[in-house]
Amino acid sequence: VNADLSPEKAAAHAAEHWSKVTTTGSVRGRWWQVPAVVRHINERVCGEPLNGLSAGARQWVVDTIPGLPLDRGIAIGGGNGVKEMELITAGIVRSVEVFEVAPARVAQGKDVATERGLADRVTFHERLLDPGEDIGRYDLVHWNNALHHMLDVDEWLAWSRRVLNPGGVLLLDDFVGATRFQWPRRQLDYASSFRRTLPDALLVDHRYPDRLLPREIVRPTITQMLASDPTEAADSGRILASLQRHFPEAEVRETGGVMYHLALSDSVANFESGVHDALLEVALLLDDALSDLGETHYAVALARLPDAAHRKARDLDRPPEPNPGVEQGARVLGQRTRARGLRLWRRARQRVLGIVTTIRSRN
Ligand SMILES: C[S@@+](CC[C@H](N)C(=O)[O-])C[C@H]1O[C@@H](n2cnc3c(N)ncnc32)[C@H](O)[C@@H]1O
Repeated sequence: VNADLSPEKAAAHAAEHWSKVTTTGSVRGRWWQVPAVVRHINERVCGEPLNGLSAGARQWVVDTIPGLPLDRGIAIGGGNGVKEMELITAGIVRSVEVFEVAPARVAQGKDVATERGLADRVTFHERLLDPGEDIGRYDLVHWNNALHHMLDVDEWLAWSRRVLNPGGVLLLDDFVGATRFQWPRRQLDYASSFRRTLPDALLVDHRYPDRLLPREIVRPTITQMLASDPTEAADSGRILASLQRHFPEAEVRETGGVMYHLALSDSVANFESGVHDALLEVALLLDDALSDLGETHYAVALARLPDAAHRKARDLDRPPEPNPGVEQGARVLGQRTRARGLRLWRRARQRVLGIVTTIRSRN
């Protein structure tokens, strides 16, 4: 994977791209700008529809990990480090080191840390880290929408285990969907079948208001992906399998995305609060169903290394073997959640058709 891309070249391009995003602001119509979607995701992760990006992941850590705060944390691709600052304020970790290649993001992060009185607890490193470099040991490794920007995710998950102290914690909240956004046919069909039901008013392209967004969702080409950011979803399709390899003790909570990331992409900018709430709610129900069917774009994972097992793993320089009992349990559970997913999907799609018919008759 990505054999022709050097990490240095990719990171230089990413630095330019992400500095531009920071200074010009991101486009409208993205799921993370929609509070109802963020609450939905948080509820899937921790059981409560909390406000704020990654609030569910933080709550999960607080509910699960004993003896907080952890001492030293590290994040690669931490952007402006705000999510790491939130880990500090939530009492999860005392201090964090953030590695980030985009200068504008680091500059912004330093200002925010100062404003929040956290400048002595967040250290920014504006450079590319080599996974072979000895940087010491940490108690928390935090990946937030950044592991999917690494060219070789397996190498970075192996690194994550290596740099953790015994009893250390891995918290990952990331895009785990198709590499280079090469969506599987199934996901394109699910997303397009929802999109086809939407009335024109919800498909107005906010960048060109006289045009409609396409009803058929298609894959971007690899050339388009490489031109915009060569680190985007560079190896994301391998994250869940590599996680299982290096952190067999990790618990994974799939947070979906086929609906809110694919089907509603750009269109969601047209949804008005109080007017289209029911439609959004059903789209999110469908999203749940698809996650249960194993179609997810995002996931949150939490792992705590047991002291002895971790030492043994490090001595042998390989992670512990997966427990076959756990795998068998997961398979049975997988079959059950898939059956639930299918039932949910059929019920929710019927409701979408009903709601859309009502919207159409009102217009
Ligand atoms: C999607 S952003 C996420 C930022 C932050 N974690 C957040 O959630 O707000 C991905 C970030 O990874 C950075 N990045 C990409 N490749 C990197 C690398 N090899 N080392 C460090 N940062 C990198 C980009 O500059 C960008 O700021």
